[in-house]
Amino acid sequence: VTFYVPCDSAALAVGADEVAAAIAAEARQRGLAVSIVRNGSRGLFWLEPLVEVATPAGRVAYGPVAPEDVPALFDAGWQDGGAHALRHGVTEQIPFLALQERLTFRRMGVTDPLSLADYEAHDGWAGLRRASGMTPEAIVNEVTHSGLRGRGGAAFPAGIKWKTVAGATAAQKYVVCNADEGDSGTFSDRMTMEGDPYMLIEGMAIAGLAVGATMGYVYIRSEYPHAVATMREAIRRATAAGFLGDNVCGHGRAFRLEVRKAAGAYVCGEETAMLESIEGKRGVVRAKPPLPALEGLFGQPTVINNVITLATVPVVLARGADFYRHFGVGRSHGTLPFQLAGNVKQGGLVEKAFGLTLRELLYGFGAGTRSGRPVKAVQVGGPLGAYVPESKWDEPLDYEAYAAFGAVVGHGGIVVHDDTADMAALARYAMEFCALESCGKCTPCRIGSTRGVEVIDRITQGQNKAAAPGRSQAAASSLGGEASAAGGKMAQVHLLRDLCDTMLGGSLCAMGGMTPYPVLSALDHYPEDFGIAPPSEK
Ligand code: NAI
Ligand code: SF4
Repeated sequence: VTFYVPCDSAALAVGADEVAAAIAAEARQRGLAVSIVRNGSRGLFWLEPLVEVATPAGRVAYGPVAPEDVPALFDAGWQDGGAHALRHGVTEQIPFLALQERLTFRRMGVTDPLSLADYEAHDGWAGLRRASGMTPEAIVNEVTHSGLRGRGGAAFPAGIKWKTVAGATAAQKYVVCNADEGDSGTFSDRMTMEGDPYMLIEGMAIAGLAVGATMGYVYIRSEYPHAVATMREAIRRATAAGFLGDNVCGHGRAFRLEVRKAAGAYVCGEETAMLESIEGKRGVVRAKPPLPALEGLFGQPTVINNVITLATVPVVLARGADFYRHFGVGRSHGTLPFQLAGNVKQGGLVEKAFGLTLRELLYGFGAGTRSGRPVKAVQVGGPLGAYVPESKWDEPLDYEAYAAFGAVVGHGGIVVHDDTADMAALARYAMEFCALESCGKCTPCRIGSTRGVEVIDRITQGQNKAAAPGRSQAAASSLGGEASAAGGKMAQVHLLRDLCDTMLGGSLCAMGGMTPYPVLSALDHYPEDFGIAPPSEK
């Protein structure tokens, strides 16, 4: 009997190792021969540890399994797919999975992450094999035609970026994978590195062939020790098997790969701060231009893409650009692995073509809040993303449609809050986060974020007329000491909007430039939480 127990850190965090040990011990006691495969996670996090048993009808899922459930599960005959309260039927038929369109994540949770044989048996290396017989121009054209855009959040067309690097002349070019997945509530990069590392390696090798780069780095956040270990081992095995090294796939071109452990700062996920960090310096943002595509790592032309962008390249090359671009809507081609987190009943990974709605994600996949209370606010696109009000939950998740109402799809992180959320406190948190994580290079972000915290405090505490120290007092007195409390509060709201405007327009990078998104959306859609009346009809 073969059991599958995930080794993804989301499963490990809730006891997957202990469950695997309990299965081995119980089987030994019963004299049953079992093999336990440590697969990646299927992404149904509310069911982790999700144990699967191979049966003639397919893999059958049980979860969440605790070590103490194991004897009863054997008694119920789970080794043959037997009935039990924790049984969810054939894994692939669980609606949360069956309703997805898994292209990038098609192997996720199916295979043993480090098994080269498993990867090969599930279409692994097909994209690289094809690419290694193509000219660099043909590879770049294929990626451009697929419509694949940067999945880190900025959605810049990957093929155009690659073309810029391919067209640059230099003795050395690089491919850097941004795996500093800092957005709260996101985990698709981590799942990829822990659950299907060869897919990322394959995508990076294809990028290397496409632009003429012979060296690549994966910059992985230090909070992801399992991803670091898995990637290092996968690179070692892929090199030994000839998929990396001096003679990639036997076609005479070189591409080597190394892991760099990140420095533990959110801003090091900003591409130029990341380059500084890899070069051994403090993670401070560089002004652009020059673009990293022309002057990147060590001053050389560099492709920088997020994990999911690079991990999607193999399927594009293996199945062809037309196959991939057929998914999605408008200019948002393909699929996005959305990550459902926060106060949601069924949290996890949902890969779907662009065009589905937030409501479908929240209720169709997420099944509402875990607390059972009504959903109040949903932050889409990480801590710098806007809170999307219910009036927009039926809009298609599409880069342009979201941008049109001042929101972002970003890296696909979705954090749900129920009606107990205090939106003024969350807006304050956004400013505080920016103040803590700012690299300090530009004034709107470095100073503005601290002033933002103070202004929000004055709005919520109604302290305009109180003797606040220092600049706060100056700001309050500039409003006129005779102002009514309500009038003073509105003046502070105007000040906050002005500050956000300055940060939006004057910051050097997205850290300061996007912090106003959560702040302004909280203010616009939940004014009552700031103690102010809703704005009159626009
Ligand atoms: P950006 O719009 O400045 O640049 C996008 C990318 O395109 C960059 O790699 C840039 O170098 C490249 N580029 C621009 N013009 C080019 C050209 N003509 N030729 C070649 N390459 C070109 O956006 P940025 O600052 O890189 O990213 C901001 C985004 O990052 C935000 O939208 C946010 O959603 C996301 N983000 C993601 C996080 C995560 O954990 N995944 C964390 C924080 C922010
Ligand atoms: Fe640094 Fe903030 Fe300016 Fe970005 S916006 S360069 S993080 S100070």
